[in-house]
Amino acid sequence: MNIASYQERIEQELRTWISNLPEEPENLYAPLRYTLEHGGKRMRPILALTGCGIFSDSVEAAVPAALGIELFHNFTLLHDDIMDNAPLRRGRETVFKKWNTNIAILSGDALFAESFKLMSKSPVFALHDILDLFSQTTIEVCEGQQLDMDFEQRRTLHVDEYLNMIRLKTAVLPAAALKIGALCGGASAQDAERLYTFGLHIGMAFQLQDDILDTFGDSEKVGKQRGGDILANKKTVLVLLALENGSATDRDELRVWYSTTTDQPQEKIAAVIGIFNRSNAREEANRFMLAHQQQAFEAISELTISESKKEILRQFADQLLHREH
Ligand code: IPE
Ligand code: IPE
Ligand code: MG
Ligand code: MG
Ligand code: MG
Repeated sequence: MNIASYQERIEQELRTWISNLPEEPENLYAPLRYTLEHGGKRMRPILALTGCGIFSDSVEAAVPAALGIELFHNFTLLHDDIMDNAPLRRGRETVFKKWNTNIAILSGDALFAESFKLMSKSPVFALHDILDLFSQTTIEVCEGQQLDMDFEQRRTLHVDEYLNMIRLKTAVLPAAALKIGALCGGASAQDAERLYTFGLHIGMAFQLQDDILDTFGDSEKVGKQRGGDILANKKTVLVLLALENGSATDRDELRVWYSTTTDQPQEKIAAVIGIFNRSNAREEANRFMLAHQQQAFEAISELTISESKKEILRQFADQLLHREH
């Protein structure tokens, strides 16, 4: 099991996939090339190959599914950037800004279908379970994305509602990636399910970290507009914690900022960051993240695999959650 080699394998598969794309219609395929040739941590396909590599000496059986999962992820990003009105991704203009919204919708749709085509190349003995899980995961991501947008308008939100939303929009995909990989590698149903649980907690922690980085990260490294979540009135973990722990004045001010859009974006971002800082929202959010990392580690300990493989999983999880982008 060698995670660095998995990353290289995925990059190579992506390059081949891109080079086989048709030229025409240019406005359908150029955005796909643009999206896939540049950056991305490739976390989900690496998880899929890792899931397979835990149970099998060769990860070949999981390669099509791993690639399919990365295509699916990029499809969600194309549409997510429209929904979030995000100008930047991976340090470059988003597809709907560089081309237009219709083009981002349609090239996303094509990518979605391509992901299922690849998924269906998984080993026949696991195919039914894989397609079932992947379809269910798609539906859950849609549910999560809808909740995320609904919550922009909500005045009050319980932290459990937020956690459910990020489970759906983000955590189920890395969880499915691991489980699909494990199924390709011939894992028992029980171990495949434990890996799913591990992936869910990794995914939860990953989205908590994503929320923190959106506001507090180095925007050069993150490659997204700094404070984009604040401008979109996203009810991130930082907002929930500030509304829970802030002073009465700060809570009121935060509610006012989040009930309007602004023509002074930098002023809003600075004011909201001030409120987050005063209420220790970042530190609290970090604690939430570490709690999910802990739960992920507990799921690892229940797997019936060698200690050295468990250690590789722990290290990968640690690396993912201490990232700067
Ligand atoms: C971004 O995912 C979307 C979230 C679920 C937070 P990544 O941070 O994995 O995006 P890339 O593929 O590495 O750019
Ligand atoms: C991403 O959530 C969830 C999906 C793309 C399904 P975000 O909206 O926080 O992701 P980024 O920050 O734009 O990458
Ligand atoms: Mg977004
Ligand atoms: Mg979003
Ligand atoms: Mg985000």
